[in-house]
Amino acid sequence: MCGIVGYIGEVNAKEILLKGLEKLEYRGYDSAGIALYDTSAQVVNVFKEKGRIATLRESIPSNMDGTAGIGHTRWATHGVPNKRNAHPHRSADGRFTLVHNGVIENYEILKNQYFANHSFTSDTDTEVIVELIAHFVQEGMEVEAAFRKGLSQLKGSYAIALIDSENPQLIYVAKAKSPLLVGVGNNCNVVASDAMAMLQVTDQFLEIMDKEIVLVTPNDVTIKTLQGDIVERAPYTAEIDASDIEKGTYPHFMLKEIDEQPGVIRNIIREYQDQDGNILVDEAIRSAIADADRINIIACGTSYHAGLVGKQMIENLAQIPVEVHLASEFSYNMPLLTKKPLFLFISQSGETADSRAVLVRVKELGYPALTLTNVSGSTISREADYTMLLHAGPEIAVASTKAYTAQIAVLAILAVDSARGKGMNPSFDLARELGLVANAMDVLCHAKEDFEAIATEFLATTRNAFFIGRSVDYYVVLEAALKLKEISYIQAEGFAGGELKHGTIALIEEGTPVVALSTQEGTNLNIRGNVKEVVARGANACVIASKGLEMDGDRFIIPRVHELFTPLASIVPMQLIAYYAALHRGCDVDKPRNLAKSVTVE
Ligand code: M6R
Repeated sequence: MCGIVGYIGEVNAKEILLKGLEKLEYRGYDSAGIALYDTSAQVVNVFKEKGRIATLRESIPSNMDGTAGIGHTRWATHGVPNKRNAHPHRSADGRFTLVHNGVIENYEILKNQYFANHSFTSDTDTEVIVELIAHFVQEGMEVEAAFRKGLSQLKGSYAIALIDSENPQLIYVAKAKSPLLVGVGNNCNVVASDAMAMLQVTDQFLEIMDKEIVLVTPNDVTIKTLQGDIVERAPYTAEIDASDIEKGTYPHFMLKEIDEQPGVIRNIIREYQDQDGNILVDEAIRSAIADADRINIIACGTSYHAGLVGKQMIENLAQIPVEVHLASEFSYNMPLLTKKPLFLFISQSGETADSRAVLVRVKELGYPALTLTNVSGSTISREADYTMLLHAGPEIAVASTKAYTAQIAVLAILAVDSARGKGMNPSFDLARELGLVANAMDVLCHAKEDFEAIATEFLATTRNAFFIGRSVDYYVVLEAALKLKEISYIQAEGFAGGELKHGTIALIEEGTPVVALSTQEGTNLNIRGNVKEVVARGANACVIASKGLEMDGDRFIIPRVHELFTPLASIVPMQLIAYYAALHRGCDVDKPRNLAKSVTVE
């Protein structure tokens, strides 16, 4: 979703801002812009364009430079993606220039209250912020006071960076609910939605808490509360390997991240198990689970699908009841809670607004919360009581792959550890089983030609596709369908095999592709029966089965792994099939239309 960068220092800000924005491309965007303070002409120049950063770069004169600036990638919420609505936005008096990430819920009210006769130049909720600040300054306030007063009027979420053309040696920064960091450099300081964007300048970052403001100059960073009290905070080191955020020889981040999965699983084993086979989970997390009478998993999208698999593992191994909820539904349709629930938030980014909204509610109600996330220090991690990290390395492609398998692997660890805590030692060696999963993933990643052939044969021209499975395979096909639709734009549905005949089978016609997954002995014959039902109605069926369950005509055989952990292996063919289907249809695999990596609005 929207991304923000800012730089103030001694060197060419233009390149730093553009490179920073390029690092934020993965979040998803539809327009981009920068504001640069031109030191010689002493003006703030604004450049913005619809579309890619490459287009923005071309639009900026090569001799344009400046040592202070702010930049933005926009993912449209209020107003269509176009140049007019792109950020930065400037106040009508020309003095203030601002970039914003988030949603101002009361922007119409503020417009009517303060600017009844003003004609706004964009359709955004953002423009009212910069006008508010300019308005309070015109009324006689100091800029910092006007900034604070402006913010205090806002309802909703925001991350903001503001430049005052009359004092360009200072960037005003603030956040509420939307992510934003300040980076501390040498004779320069930076602002970024994600540390990755500014690793080119520094690896020292300061967290900003909601409702704080930050005054950033080339040599100083001052954090204050909205009331004006100074807050002392030490920077932390962003432990991101710069090579993790490069594609290397891969054509796409998605393919690189699919291939990284065996390594991620091995890494998770190292992080969560010592040499003697002891699982390394915080005692505080263990007691929170032991105290809980039910676990409520809260997540969105792919993370929700990982949660479904987690439910099966935790209930099966640790005999703890688990419910899995879509975050966006839970907030508005809260189920009856048990006496001692534990909330388990699953979020790759740790910034998803829908999940965070539930977390805020859960904390208000006083329930304990554990976050599984890939991003240490992310909002959902900071605000929960406990965190378990995925250790998957940065995931850049919008379509989540290695984070999904990492989530399931960490849930497996939690399930086995909780089982042991209850004296129910599972009969298998977890590290060995996960090691076998990693080996199976290696084999699958080396079978790309097979999956490319399946994509070509079944998905090259189709408008729709079905994925069917039963038991835990049903959860995996939900994820398989999501992967395919988000990057190839083929209308895809994941379905429980037995449910087809209750309505959806009406959609099967001559040549409809149906991918069936069979990894569970207990449901192998049933799903085979469902395949027969769709084939009888003309479907073009592609069966992918686990070794030992295969039958004549199956299209691909997955190496056998422990039945509880098959989702870790069986998703890899599905990810690769989706990848090749999207590639062959000429889609932008890493940056699918309309989507954002980090969904920071509800
Ligand atoms: O960062 P999160 O795990 O909270 O994100 C949740 C979903 O937005 C995310 O999984 C989304 O569904 C992915 N694009 C799927 O590939």
